[in-house]
Amino acid sequence: MGELLERELERFEREHPRSRELAREAERFLLQGVPMPWMIRWAGGFPIFAAEAEGARFRDVDGHEYVDFCLGDTAAMTGHSPEPTVRAVAEQARRGITLMLPSEDALWVGRELGRRFGLPRWQFALTATDANRFAIRLARELTGRTKILVFNWCYHGSVDETFATLAGASVVARDGNVGPPVPLAETTRVVEWNDAGALERELSHGDVACVLAEPALTNVGIVVPEPGFHDALRAATRHTETLLAIDETHTLCAGPGGYTAAHSLEPDMLTVGKAIAAGIPAAAYGFSEEVASRLEALLPRDERADVGGIGGTVAANVLSLAAMRATLADVLTDDAFARMIALGERFEAGVAGAIDRHALPWHVTRLGCRVEYLFRPERPRTGSEAAAAGDPELDRLVHLYALNRGILLTPFHNMALMSPATTEADVDLHTRVFDEAAGELASVREGSAAR
Ligand SMILES: Cc1ncc(COP(=O)(O)O)c(C=O)c1O
Repeated sequence: MGELLERELERFEREHPRSRELAREAERFLLQGVPMPWMIRWAGGFPIFAAEAEGARFRDVDGHEYVDFCLGDTAAMTGHSPEPTVRAVAEQARRGITLMLPSEDALWVGRELGRRFGLPRWQFALTATDANRFAIRLARELTGRTKILVFNWCYHGSVDETFATLAGASVVARDGNVGPPVPLAETTRVVEWNDAGALERELSHGDVACVLAEPALTNVGIVVPEPGFHDALRAATRHTETLLAIDETHTLCAGPGGYTAAHSLEPDMLTVGKAIAAGIPAAAYGFSEEVASRLEALLPRDERADVGGIGGTVAANVLSLAAMRATLADVLTDDAFARMIALGERFEAGVAGAIDRHALPWHVTRLGCRVEYLFRPERPRTGSEAAAAGDPELDRLVHLYALNRGILLTPFHNMALMSPATTEADVDLHTRVFDEAAGELASVREGSAAR
């Protein structure tokens, strides 16, 4: 595999001279040469610099065009710059960007989120990270409890409490966590996904304010809930008077009301961000009527509100709200989801066919319009099983192989998203390239097995 990777790295370097030049120059002005730490981790050794994007495609500064299945790691699941959102943003920007006053769009968006997710009352933030942070704070305030519970190998944004993982029976910070404020065992309990027994045990301490969970893990490959797990989660949280916060930021891919609506979940709080404003910074967090009423009875309305640790000067700005309204009304529609999910099925079938044809010990999983391949034969049951299947060198090769042939996959794992602008031809291009890569890798495996 080393030779294949070498070959692809050389090709990448040769075909991206302008990106390489800009990456070198960026080292003078940007920490580690990138505007945001994650951008250092692209497979080619330096990031490609973007020139422009539209729909499901973008062009780089070297003039290559790509089919984008990364779609800003979900923030552009709408396709890049969808016309209704662009129009609404342009119109709103001329009429005010941020006022610290509500606009009528806030009501429209609150009502629409209620219709989609089943929770009646909402607040807005700029990122899903913030929505999660604020939901956690409110849960603490409401319950008077200090801890939260998350599932092992979860991801909920850069939220301090959530970077906890299990080392045997102990809770420790995830490798690479920068500057944790306190030892994470002080703030967080962690259990494996699909382990109802451990969940009940950890909640029985009575010190957990809320469970924060994606309804299926999507950040360590896709790990779906086993039948009955959500019922067990809801029963255990109710039994221990722990709030249940469901993070739909990624699982919105399951349909217009996310996994929650598709599977009739009944969370106390729900958070969502990224795609809901087509990539314009915007996020929302919603409450059941009961939680909203309890919060309203509890929270101060006086001048100390601005040290509550919730909200922010530009949160719920009128531009974000106009973008959310247009995106929900005219882009991420029921019809759009039907088409996106059908494309996801086509993508999944293409990958499964190639895995079979080349007899590779891999599998592919899909959640709505999100598809992911993992380098192990069976579906993982837990985050730990999924993480153990990670193979950084193979990941890098597969990503680079795709990139060199005009396809962008989501970094950190092998994830693809379908947008309303994605076409069957885009999906079929991926199938061809994946099949070619799988064929080359199968030959390498056979070669090394024969030696
Ligand atoms: C499930 C989930 N929640 C929240 C976030 C945080 O989103 P953001 O980085 O836009 O704040 C992410 C980001 O990947 C996510 O996957």
